Amino acid sequence: MIDFQNVSVTFKQNRKTVEAVRNVSFQINDGDIFGIVGGSGAGKSTLLRTINQLQKVSEGNVIVDSKAVNNLKSTELRLLRQNVGMIFQHFNLAENKTVYQNIEFVLKVAGWKKNKIQSRISELLEFVKLSDKADTYPSKLSGGQKQRVSIARALANNTKILLCDEPTSALDAETTSSVLELLKKVNNDFGVTIVIITHELDVVKSICNKVVVMSDGKVVESGDVYSVFTNPQNDFTKQLIEHTNNFDIPAEITDIIKGPVLKLTYLGDNAVESILSDTAKEYNIRYNIIHGKIEYIASKPLGILYVNIIGEDKNIKLVVSALKEKTFSAEVIYNV
Ligand SMILES: Nc1ncnc2c1ncn2[C@@H]1O[C@H](COP(=O)(O)OP(=O)(O)OP(=O)(O)O)[C@@H](O)[C@H]1O
Ligand SMILES: [Mg+2]
Repeated sequence: MIDFQNVSVTFKQNRKTVEAVRNVSFQINDGDIFGIVGGSGAGKSTLLRTINQLQKVSEGNVIVDSKAVNNLKSTELRLLRQNVGMIFQHFNLAENKTVYQNIEFVLKVAGWKKNKIQSRISELLEFVKLSDKADTYPSKLSGGQKQRVSIARALANNTKILLCDEPTSALDAETTSSVLELLKKVNNDFGVTIVIITHELDVVKSICNKVVVMSDGKVVESGDVYSVFTNPQNDFTKQLIEHTNNFDIPAEITDIIKGPVLKLTYLGDNAVESILSDTAKEYNIRYNIIHGKIEYIASKPLGILYVNIIGEDKNIKLVVSALKEKTFSAEVIYNV
């Protein structure tokens, strides 16, 4: 377990003080794929770096596997860093070393015997599907392949914790999903705890089980991914999520719309069709479906539907409140 206890990090620069992390407390359990999201400068990287002590805390404690990691002696600090792997947005591979040598370096430093190193590297390259690239230099690899090498390198020493700082931010959508699949496999096959900073909420939705939202050095919301995404409490989180979920009604449609447009969300894949046909009959109105999708958040479905309601004003009022009862949320987003 990783336990942040009242952690603060303050930087002093030219008499100016920056409180990068402010009194943060939360826990990451073994086996979690834990997301940290928030705007630029929110303190995410600073907080992540306290886990392997690339960053010292100014106040509080960081406990990794029942041991406070602030104030470790140099031998213990080296051991901690060998047991906590890290990957970055720009991969940080040694350009003058081959794929094989990049991984070999880590194993040598960790004191692996020569005869064990070769088989370990073969095993790792097979796992990340790059067995044919052992003698290739990083400059000849695609972004996705570079990130696979850095994952292999980070795990080489049988690492139990993997820290990822924006691991997919430099990758296109397709490569992003293959790297995310690999991270899922790392978690699933080896039980590695993964902590992942990202500004892409889709990354959190697709692989994380828990998430914290940071703003201005503080944790403003935390919980399991499905409840945070379906029922955010904090205004900053709401904005963040709405931003990715928003659908702008095309101008061609706004010209012909009469009456309200409702955004309905429903949990699970419960039959929204029957709710619509029942309420249409009961309140004598009609629906025009404008847009709909089902999203998968932490593998559970969330339906989102935009409907235009056509009918008499008094019936529309009644059906809107009925829909609020029958769905997870019903919100008028447009009205003429
Ligand atoms: N070494 C440093 N010295 C001084 N200030 C720093 C240092 N590192 C970070 N900061 C400041 O601390 C704050 C938090 O920075 P941090 O890099 O942790 O944010 P972040 O959430 O990772 O942002 P981004 O999404 O842009 O990477 C920022 O105001 C930053 O300027
Ligand atoms: Mg950062």
